[in-house]
Amino acid sequence: IPTHRIAVIPGDGIGTEVMPPAQRLLELAGHRFGFAFEWQNFDWSCEYYARTGAMMPADGIEQLAECDQILLGAVGFPGVPDHVSLWGLLIPIRRAFQQYINLRPIKLLPGIESPLRKVPAGGIDFQVVRENNEGEYSESGGRLYRGLPQEVAIQESIFTRFGVTRAMNYAINLAEQREGRLASATKSNGIIHTMPFWDEILRELGQEHPLLEISEYHIDALAALFVLDPGRFDVIVASNLFGDILTDLGAAIIGSIGIAPSANLNPEGEFPSMFEPVHGSAPDIAGRGKANPLGQVWAASMMLDHLGHSEAGAALVDTMGHVLLETDVRTPDLGGRATTEEVSDALAAAFATVT
Ligand code: NAI
Ligand code: MG
Repeated sequence: IPTHRIAVIPGDGIGTEVMPPAQRLLELAGHRFGFAFEWQNFDWSCEYYARTGAMMPADGIEQLAECDQILLGAVGFPGVPDHVSLWGLLIPIRRAFQQYINLRPIKLLPGIESPLRKVPAGGIDFQVVRENNEGEYSESGGRLYRGLPQEVAIQESIFTRFGVTRAMNYAINLAEQREGRLASATKSNGIIHTMPFWDEILRELGQEHPLLEISEYHIDALAALFVLDPGRFDVIVASNLFGDILTDLGAAIIGSIGIAPSANLNPEGEFPSMFEPVHGSAPDIAGRGKANPLGQVWAASMMLDHLGHSEAGAALVDTMGHVLLETDVRTPDLGGRATTEEVSDALAAAFATVT
């Protein structure tokens, strides 16, 4: 049977708590659908940093390259500055492996009530395609005159025709497989070089896809529409920063940041892709059995989709929906009292019943 070699990086805080339930469900899916996993565990984290002075070893990227895909929990912990943990692990992986798409489904699962009053069951179902390699998250810039009154910080955004085009093409393709509606996040009124460039490329590509309904929204207005009318969206394409902010808002309107998943994709499959929940290491609840494992399980289901096991991937999402709709086993972020492990048990039991 096909065996997938998966790099597992639980990371910090609740990352280590939500990973075992996801691996458990993946094993169950493998048994049912006829594939297997070989887990390769890596303890790279802020604890590893405290021990070694680096978030991962110098040959970390080479070690990961031996694996088919990467499953990540969360990294970051008080004591290590966030830019160190992010730029020492996550961003190098995303860039070295050309994971230029960050795909985030924003979907209201059955049994979950949105914090938005007017949203009916199933009333939110769209995908955010975030450019994941360049844009506002760049190393270009610098600081001068540190500590002096004239101290200055300059941060430059990098938008390349190549990078923008491939992200937009991915979003166009996805919209064509769905309802054929693509919304772009821009801010070409205030950001006068990169964002008009972004808009121009979208319009050029749009001409090749006349059947697609393409709309452009300024990011501020778009954020408001996430709250006022989230049902209107099908696929959204956004730059690195805009996509990052929009998807945290997206995670909030589908009930909890503890549910939302994210896939860092190298669509060509030339390198491993990386699957992780949207949430971080949640130091405020770490070590207390309160972490919601659903975001990590959903990320695992996206990995199954990417591996070509879309039936198994759908079974995991159905399993989550089943537990949420048929039971009251849920963690405190969803208003319940269950522990991470109790949710894991309920998921395993429900998996046996979904077809
Ligand atoms: P966070 O997502 O860790 O937590 C925000 C809030 O949501 C907290 O109140 C937390 O308890 C709650 N929460 C998050 N995930 C949950 C879950 N699965 N179940 C129940 N409640 C959950 O974001 P925060 O506090 O801004 O960051 C904490 C650390 O995580 C920082 O070091 C940050 O850099 C890192 N981080 C890492 C990310 C990654 O690995 N991709 C993403 C975001 C943050
Ligand atoms: Mg974020």
